[in-house]
Amino acid sequence: MALRKMVYIEDELLRKKSRPVEKFDEKLHKLLDDMAETMYHTNGVGLAAPQVAVLRRVVVMDCGDGLIEMINPEILETEGEQDGPEGCLSVPGRRGMVKRPMVVRARFQDRNGEWYEIEADELLARCIMHETDHLDGVLYVDKMYREIFSDEELEEEEGEEA
Ligand code: NI
Repeated sequence: MALRKMVYIEDELLRKKSRPVEKFDEKLHKLLDDMAETMYHTNGVGLAAPQVAVLRRVVVMDCGDGLIEMINPEILETEGEQDGPEGCLSVPGRRGMVKRPMVVRARFQDRNGEWYEIEADELLARCIMHETDHLDGVLYVDKMYREIFSDEELEEEEGEEA
């Protein structure tokens, strides 16, 4: 495993649409392992392949219940709404409030190409939306309705969400 170099907000790569994964091979497994290591190393809860300069539809996330790898994720259905703070490893030092669906149903492939379906809510739903947005060149700052400037403000917002 190895840490991958992160791509930051100024980089045009983050605005490109990623292509589907077709080969579920060693190269993909290495990418997934490296992405997980990079995410944990930087204390992130999610990471999308374009953030490490790979324009493929691959995301990893861990919202506290263990590592989830999603290849070629597709949002099938969303329900409700939640308000909450978001940050992004590619947008260091910033936070902002974003509206997301409360419940998300998605399908995705695992590292061997097997299809799965997941229904997620709360933080995991938010995470899935944030990471799949990356695959279409969308950043949370595009959807943010208010920037958060202080830790006190962030704590307040997280309290509201809980
Ligand atoms: Ni992000």
